[in-house]
Amino acid sequence: MANRDAIDAIAPEFTEIRRDIHAHPEIGMTETRTSALVADKLRSWGIEVHSGIGKTGVVGVLRRGNGHGRIGLRADMDALPIDETTGLAYASRNPGVMHACGHDGHTAMLLGAAKYLAENGGFSGTVHFIFQPAEEGLGGARAMIADGLFEQFPCDAVFGMHNRPGLEVGRFSIRPGTQMAGGAFFDIAITGRGSHGARPEAGIDPVVVAAQLVSSLQSIVARRVSPTDTAVLSVTRIAAGEAYNVIPETAALRGTARTMRHETMALLETEMRRLAEGIAGGFGARAEVDFRVLFAPLVNDAHETEAIVAAASKVAGADRVEASGPQTMASEDFSFMLEKVPGAFINLGNGGGAEVHNPLYNFNDEAIPHGIALWASIVEEKLPQAAGE
Ligand code: NI
Repeated sequence: MANRDAIDAIAPEFTEIRRDIHAHPEIGMTETRTSALVADKLRSWGIEVHSGIGKTGVVGVLRRGNGHGRIGLRADMDALPIDETTGLAYASRNPGVMHACGHDGHTAMLLGAAKYLAENGGFSGTVHFIFQPAEEGLGGARAMIADGLFEQFPCDAVFGMHNRPGLEVGRFSIRPGTQMAGGAFFDIAITGRGSHGARPEAGIDPVVVAAQLVSSLQSIVARRVSPTDTAVLSVTRIAAGEAYNVIPETAALRGTARTMRHETMALLETEMRRLAEGIAGGFGARAEVDFRVLFAPLVNDAHETEAIVAAASKVAGADRVEASGPQTMASEDFSFMLEKVPGAFINLGNGGGAEVHNPLYNFNDEAIPHGIALWASIVEEKLPQAAGE
């Protein structure tokens, strides 16, 4: 059983580290200060360190006992392009960049677990501490996997954790199977023919094409996706023209699509291309679609979900662990690691306050010992010591 007194004793150190990371946020793939801090701390506790996995990613390796089991624990390190308005003493010192998703807390908690496990042991096998860059749509998980993450550091199971505002501190929530949606971003470039605003017959108006297309795209979810399946398609930006009296040459749309299944995402892409090209063609214009799948649906392995529910129940009490929590249409690129290795992604209560991705958001330091204790508990659960070890 993880030693809660020892964890509570080191928690203030990791509150300081969390606030230091918070004050120095870095956008995905530029986390040089954060990854150097992570590597220095891991080394200072005698943990083997491998830097530069997926550019700014770091992996720490800790072995104990004779056990052959190997697990991966993953935290994300990147911040968001948001101007912080919290007014905190340790608010972002990098204008326009902010830890608005709590990845500062995730990094601090995994560091805390590394120190606790290095000093207290209590397991037999190998723990890989995976510090991932660029979770926020910039491909960090795929970059680490492409760099040989699971060949260099083989894992039998891999686990991730994310804070959740609105869930009380000390509570956990997870569900087996599909927990979060897969996500794509898309751009649609429409080319017509520019003309004088008073002489539409001389041009082909891309603004009219764009307007038709925005409405028609909603029919994909309503008419092409099965009512028992789930999908979202949102056009979030329309851009065309500058002047009152000029019909522009081009118009551009962009947005995001979310689905719970790969097949449904492929359907959205196919139907979007058909509608965009068909509608543009009907007006004598052209449309080009750039559709980029950035997140796979996040699917928790049933067996590993049971393991982390058991670990969380030991830490928090079974009545504070929601084992069949809600699905969400938000996305998370840990999903790509779960496509390679069975595992699970659990939510940790962050208490009240602002939602993630809001300029007033702040990770709740009171959650730090709960997160460290969960990491220690899942390591004990998955890598138990044999009698006499
Ligand atoms: Ni996040």
